[in-house]
Amino acid sequence: MALRSPLSCVAKRATATAQSTQLLSTHASQWRRGNATVAPVKQNGAGSKGPTAMVFMNMGGPSTTDEVHGFLSMLFADKDLIPLGPLQNYIGPYIARRRTPKIQKQYAEIGGGSPIRKWSEYQAAEMCKILDRTSPETAPHKPYVAFRYANPLTEDTYKQLIADGFGGGKGGRAVAFTQYPQYSCSTTGSSLNELWKWRQRLEGKRAADGEVDAEGAIKWSVIDRWPAHTGLVEAFAQLIEKKLLEYPPERRDNVVLLFSAHSLPMTVVNRGDPYPSEVAATVYAVMSRLGHKLKYRLVWQSQVGPQPWLGAQTSDTVKEYMKKGQTDMLLIPIAFTSDHIETLYELDKEVIGEDAEGHEGVKRVDSLNDHPVFIEALADIAKAHLASGKAVSKQMTLRCPKCTSERCLASKDFFAGQQKHLDAAA
Ligand code: FES
Repeated sequence: MALRSPLSCVAKRATATAQSTQLLSTHASQWRRGNATVAPVKQNGAGSKGPTAMVFMNMGGPSTTDEVHGFLSMLFADKDLIPLGPLQNYIGPYIARRRTPKIQKQYAEIGGGSPIRKWSEYQAAEMCKILDRTSPETAPHKPYVAFRYANPLTEDTYKQLIADGFGGGKGGRAVAFTQYPQYSCSTTGSSLNELWKWRQRLEGKRAADGEVDAEGAIKWSVIDRWPAHTGLVEAFAQLIEKKLLEYPPERRDNVVLLFSAHSLPMTVVNRGDPYPSEVAATVYAVMSRLGHKLKYRLVWQSQVGPQPWLGAQTSDTVKEYMKKGQTDMLLIPIAFTSDHIETLYELDKEVIGEDAEGHEGVKRVDSLNDHPVFIEALADIAKAHLASGKAVSKQMTLRCPKCTSERCLASKDFFAGQQKHLDAAA
């Protein structure tokens, strides 16, 4: 989200689908609360482990300008994403209200809303088509999208899963597939905490109709990070090579690659968040694929709020290099899997349009969006995950050294604890 105006000032003032149901119903009656001896459901009745719900998790974005205020309200209320201290419940709504008109204008300038839902639904659907071929034992694969701050919200997607015959007493298998390639407790961690929260409210101890027996609830596993997957790296490399061709041959070797990722507050970095090192892993893998033939830097964008954030900032970097005479720079959004306001507005209009004054030497590579190599990569990651039988990665079970969040602890315990249910159903 482009937040170029001094939010710090604002904060300081404030301180003062319906998708078809598979053949589940015939098996649902096999499940009885507390009856752990009933054999696991074979949901398509043909010995397959499917259907499998593939749930793409991301932050989301407002599809229309009318959705901006709701989006910002949820975003600034999320302590996992933007920790604003003990007064967050007051400061968050205040900032959201103040920011809404400006952010609405930004979305209006990029076509009236974020394309992230369109791209996420496309990517999930296309990946599932491939997965049906490459992983027939877990087919059919059903695509879902669960956003943290915009429609379709995690709560609604979970309800949709149940309406479609997953869980709610019928058993069933779902994969929470983060669409943040690099793990941060602010992004993937926040989405998982939200998913866990709704699991508790819809199938767990807090469910209105009582807790669903573990065997009848959705069996979850998590794809939590994939920063250096060869398909991801290849897709980025191809997009960079394609854009470099737009520079005259005699200038091409001196283009500086600026890999730009969403920044983090230093409080989050110093808590031990793995994101900076995982973004760096992606960058280094892409540079290795490109043969280290060009100069590059990893820079950080979208700083918001009064705290110190991880730098150097993308905006400052472009301005400083321009002053030094380096006017050929290629921006690569390395932590985003599709276009949204950070690319279309912040990089294209603010960094290139304003900081670089539209200099023709400063360009941005296309986002991954519908790149076929990227879609194949998603399917490859998912196939390997399903074949592994693992509920979570080893790394996901390790909390940040300075984490004090009970949500993190409970959420990680829950997802890691899914292993015994996956094993029982295997
Ligand atoms: Fe990183 Fe809780 S903040 S595990």
